[in-house]
Amino acid sequence: MNILVIGNGGREHTIVWKLSQSSRVDKIYCAPGNAGIASQAECLDIKVEDIDGLFQAARDKKIDLTVVGPEIPLSLGIVNHFEKNNYPIFGPTLEATEIESSKVFAKYIMDKYQVPTASYRVFKDYYQALLYLQQQSFPLVIKADGLAAGKGVLIIEDLPQAEKAISQIMKEHKFGKAGKRVIIEEFLTGEEVSMLVFTDGEYFLPITPSQDHKKISDGDQGLNTGGMGAYSPVPFFDNKTQEWVLKSIFQPVIKGMKKEGRKFKGVLYAGLILTKEGPKVLEFNARFGDPETQVILPGLKTDLIEILCATQEENLNQIKVEWTNQSSVCVVIASGGYPGKYEKGKTIVGLEDLLNKQDTMVFHAGTEKKNDKIVTSGGRVLGVTSWADTLTGAIEKAYEGVNKIHFEKGYYRKDIGKKGLNFSPGKNI
Ligand code: AMP
Ligand code: GLY
Repeated sequence: MNILVIGNGGREHTIVWKLSQSSRVDKIYCAPGNAGIASQAECLDIKVEDIDGLFQAARDKKIDLTVVGPEIPLSLGIVNHFEKNNYPIFGPTLEATEIESSKVFAKYIMDKYQVPTASYRVFKDYYQALLYLQQQSFPLVIKADGLAAGKGVLIIEDLPQAEKAISQIMKEHKFGKAGKRVIIEEFLTGEEVSMLVFTDGEYFLPITPSQDHKKISDGDQGLNTGGMGAYSPVPFFDNKTQEWVLKSIFQPVIKGMKKEGRKFKGVLYAGLILTKEGPKVLEFNARFGDPETQVILPGLKTDLIEILCATQEENLNQIKVEWTNQSSVCVVIASGGYPGKYEKGKTIVGLEDLLNKQDTMVFHAGTEKKNDKIVTSGGRVLGVTSWADTLTGAIEKAYEGVNKIHFEKGYYRKDIGKKGLNFSPGKNI
């Protein structure tokens, strides 16, 4: 099979790497890709927003299956476009993607199908939102309805902060159209877990749970980022809770989406928070997570292409998915200054020491090749992922790998995976 993967991050590098191990895959293309992806796939210089360009490439290269990484092309209707032309593609339609691209729609689905989430109000009018905020106690959470590159969620500590936020979103249009409606919701506390499933719209298969580390600094301090690392599985998210989540969250949502005429096919991702009252949904995503994918796919024993095809062809109930019992950890190395301003073009050294390892893989995100050298080209640069029989072992190996890699002003968190150790009952850790 010829495969086209869309995207250029660590998630897409992981998908390409996994697909490259399949005997059914002949050739992989990636648009636009990065310097790491280039060693397993032919990179095509097409932007993820260029739906026509991507379709043209799928036609020219005789692609048998296109796999969409990021949310932007999904929200632009890439799946609708490919399907209309009878080109197989993995991912949800524009209508189904709304579960991620509109937080108001996600709340509508959760209300209608009785899925636990934070209590909330929706506002279209600045003055009404302001009046409401003046009557609330803090902290609370303000969310722009639409896609805002992960920046549209604000944890608000007091009224002056709330007034500033609502003015920036609704009057100054900081997030453009994404902020036309806002959600003001209850602030929840608890550990967060990413639970993903493959679904063909009817049937679904769970993926090993993982935990992201969204804050820039150790101990979950500082600004939010795209994710500074992850680990999987999550020792404190036990089987019983998982079963409950599958039955009380995924089942009604997948059924509900079909009922609404928005059958969801692809990977459905629930960002959960484990509150004292039980797990609640913070958000849904319509795709694989980043950096969650980097720790999930190394543990997949079944051929990934088989699962992607069964999802796309709507016969997921006919396959069995197997996972290893190992733990994996991904530590992201970012450019100094990220998530704020940072410099690009720094030469990366030490990558060759980590090639061909049995238990470590360096997934590239913001990298490019310049004059035969690999240099930084983004905020999150690399994700060093290791797997081992225990979480402790995987953490040690990942940091061993991180210590071999250097570039000027490179930054990483030192505590990825630690929460899994702290919360565990102490078995097999
Ligand atoms: P979201 O994009 O909705 O997942 O939000 C991004 C991050 O904001 C989450 O991973 C949480 O850390 C935080 N967050 C979102 N909603 C809430 C909430 N209701 N209470 C507390 N934290 C939240
Ligand atoms: N790790 C968060 C996300 O993929 O949205």
